[in-house]
Amino acid sequence: MAKLPHFLVVPFPAQGHVMPLMEFSHQLVDHGAKVTFVNTEYIHNMLLSSLVDPKDGQQRRSGIHLVSVPDGLDIEEDRKLSKNLIYSMMNTMPRHLEDLFKKSESDDQKIDCVVADATVGWIFDVADKFGTKRAAFWPASLAVLALTLHVPKLIEAGVIDENGTPMKEEVIRLPHGMPDMNAFKLMWESSSIPQMREIILKFIRTISKAATVANWLICNSIDELEPISRDLVPSSLNIGPLLASDRLGQPTGHFWPEDSTCLAWLDQQPVHSVIYVAFGSTTIFTECQFNEIAHGLELVGKPYLWVVRPDITHELIPSFPDGFRDGVTHLGKLVAWAPQQKVLAHRSMACFLTHCGWNSTIEGLSLGVPLLCWPYSADQFHNQNFICDTLNVGLRLNKDENGIITRDEIKVKVQKIYSDEQIRSRANKVKDMQKGV
Ligand code: UDX
Repeated sequence: MAKLPHFLVVPFPAQGHVMPLMEFSHQLVDHGAKVTFVNTEYIHNMLLSSLVDPKDGQQRRSGIHLVSVPDGLDIEEDRKLSKNLIYSMMNTMPRHLEDLFKKSESDDQKIDCVVADATVGWIFDVADKFGTKRAAFWPASLAVLALTLHVPKLIEAGVIDENGTPMKEEVIRLPHGMPDMNAFKLMWESSSIPQMREIILKFIRTISKAATVANWLICNSIDELEPISRDLVPSSLNIGPLLASDRLGQPTGHFWPEDSTCLAWLDQQPVHSVIYVAFGSTTIFTECQFNEIAHGLELVGKPYLWVVRPDITHELIPSFPDGFRDGVTHLGKLVAWAPQQKVLAHRSMACFLTHCGWNSTIEGLSLGVPLLCWPYSADQFHNQNFICDTLNVGLRLNKDENGIITRDEIKVKVQKIYSDEQIRSRANKVKDMQKGV
C-alpha cells in the first residue's frame, strides 16, 4: 500500500489551541493523510479521559494517532500558562520530538510536514534537522496576527520599547486599514494576569520567527470576515472557520467531558430565548465578580445556560450566593462544560455572553448569534472591538469604578441585546457571509 502523507501536528498545551488544531487534523485525515498529534503528557491524559464514552465506558476512536511527550515539569507542578511552562517545554520537548522523527523514519512512516501552533514555532528547528516542511498554525484572528507581525516595526519606530512599554501616551498608527490604537490598549498592556506581559512578548518573538521560517502560514479565519487583515498578511492561508459542528459525535479535543444534558433542556426553551454564558477554558473570576454574574443572570429573568467550570474562581469549588441554587432551578441550567458548538447552533439561542476568545468568537459569528463581550486577557480585547465596532454584532459590558461588571450592567446589556433586532439581523448577515451566501 502506498504511504500516506504523514503530518506531525503540535499544539500549544491549552484548550483554545488544541481544539482548532484537532479539527484541522480531522480534515487532513478526511483528505487521506496520516496525522500524529503530539500533546504534552498532561494534556494527553485529559484528552484520553474525555474520549471515554459514558454510555459504555469504552474509549471512542479518533482516527488520529495521539502521542505524548513530557513538558519537563514535575508531576505536581501547575500547568496553567506561565513562563515556567513555556521555558520548560522549550528545553524538553525538542529532543523527544527528534525521537518521533527518527522512529517515523525507521517505521517507514517518514513525517512529511510539521504543523505547529505558531506559539511553539521553535519546533521548526527540529523539523529543519530532518529536512521536513513546516506549516505555522495561528489559532487567533488574522488582525491579531497582523498586529503581532507589526510589533518589530513599532519598536523600530520608537513607539514602544523592547519590553513593549509605550514610550509616550499617543495614538499608535497601525498599517493602513487597521483602526488606530491607544498605546495602552495593546494586548500585553490590557491584561491583568501576572506574567502575561512577558509571556505575550515571548510569544510575539516566537510567532514572528515561525512566520518567517514556515513554508505555510495557516489561520483559523475567513477571507471575507477580515478582508483588511487578509491584505496585511497576504501569505496567510485562511482556512476557517474550523468547526466540529458538522461532524457530530466525533471527538475534537475537549479536555473535559461535555455535559450534553443541556441540549434536552434547550429543546424545551422558546426560540431565541436563552442566554448562553461561557468564558472559555482559562478565565477566572473573583468571588465578588462571580456573585454578580449569578445575581445578574437571575435579575434578567430569562432562561440561561451557564458554563461553570470547577476552576472558574480561585476557590476549590465555586460558591454561589445564598438561595441561588434554589432560585436557579426554574430559570437556568448550569453545566461544567457544554458542547458549545451544538449549543450555539440551537434555535433557542438569544445571545452569547462570552470572554471573546477567538474560537468562541468565530463559533458565535459562524452561527449568527449576537454577542455580549466580556474580554479577560490578551487578544480577547481586540476581538471585542472587532465584534462591537467593526461587525456591529455585539455589545460591551462595562466595568464600574471598582473594576466590577455589576448585576445591573448585566441586566441592562442583556435586555438591550434581546430587544435589538438589528444586531440579530447583522449577525445573520455575518453568518451568511462566512458560508459565501
Ligand atoms: C484561548 C484564547 O482565549 C483565544 O483567544 C486564543 O485564540 C486561543 O486560546 P480560550 O480562552 O479557552 O482560548 O477560549 P476560546 O478561544 O473561546 O476557546 C474555547 C473553546 O472551548 C471553544 O472552541 C469552545 O467551543 C470550547 N468550549 C468552551 C466548549 O466546548 N465548552 C464549553 O463549555 C466552553
